[in-house]
Amino acid sequence: MVEVSPRDGLQNEPTLVPVNVKVELIEKLGDCGFETIESTSFVSPKWVPQLADAESVMRNLRRRPGVRYPVLVPNEQGYARARAAGAMEIAVFTAASEAFNQRNVNASVDESIARFEPVIERAISEGVAVRGYVSTVLGCPYQGEVPLADVVRVAERLHRLGCAEISLGDTIGVGTPLKARAMFRAVAEAVPMDALAIHFHDTYGQALANILACLEEGAGIVDAAVAGTGGCPYARGSSGNVASEDVVYMLHGMGIETGIDLEALVATGHWLAQQLGRATGSRVGRATVQETA
Ligand code: HMG
Ligand code: MG
Repeated sequence: MVEVSPRDGLQNEPTLVPVNVKVELIEKLGDCGFETIESTSFVSPKWVPQLADAESVMRNLRRRPGVRYPVLVPNEQGYARARAAGAMEIAVFTAASEAFNQRNVNASVDESIARFEPVIERAISEGVAVRGYVSTVLGCPYQGEVPLADVVRVAERLHRLGCAEISLGDTIGVGTPLKARAMFRAVAEAVPMDALAIHFHDTYGQALANILACLEEGAGIVDAAVAGTGGCPYARGSSGNVASEDVVYMLHGMGIETGIDLEALVATGHWLAQQLGRATGSRVGRATVQETA
């Protein structure tokens, strides 16, 4: 599992979350057993003010041995900042939809790839692992339908450029299981399955069903955010990521070991919801409160 709450979970929060809370969140997630925690973004602070403190977060973090702390990077400027702050893993991002990509990074898909192509090259030469995100794989808030061929083409291109892992993002959570399965299957014909991750937002309540459909196809890496936090500020209608608690509950119920301590994760979800001043977005989190009330 890849825990993305410190980045995707917080990037769209309206009120500024203090650095010490972000750092504590990342450390708590490490305590829960996550081995990969996407920690922040080195994007333009004008575009995503919530993560303008990326340097402070990375510098104040007490790293656990064996845990990876990747960060989002859009361009060479972001890469330089990330490396100076001690990042050892990065994620670059583009989309299958031109209309969304234009709004998210002010560039066409080709232009965005041209921006981070030198970043990938440099990262690889410096021993920095690179993940590549493809957004809007099951629909776009501006373009509507996204042809499967576009998803496959962009995923394949990122993989060929050297991204060791490709995360397929249903940015606005509009996908349904049969479409998710067909999308995953089509990409897996072009990119080795063990290099693929799935990244579902739960806007329409379909995320767990979509994850299950992709697991049945052979997916092995799942992105999620504790307390169901998250959403992209440049995707109209985007809402929370699938809640990590709910994914872990489902996987453990299916006999799939995750290495995550569900009880500690639920507690972390409640703690985060309290910090953000609202109810948890995790169904498992809510059920646990009712059980103990
Ligand atoms: P731009 O305005 O076209 O870029 O933005 P620019 O190169 O013209 O730069 C404009 C200003 O930004 C300049 O400053 C640069 O120095 C500065 P000024 O001269 O005006 O003072 N700048 C930077 N500052 C700090 N760090 C940087 C950086 N780059 C430029 N790295 C840009 C282009 C890509 C920078 C901008 O559009 C941007 O930052 N976009 C990020 C949007 C974003 O973070 N979206 C959310 C993440 S994606 C997501 O959530 C989806 C995902 O979860 C998967 C899914 O769900 O599908 C991953
Ligand atoms: Mg996302």
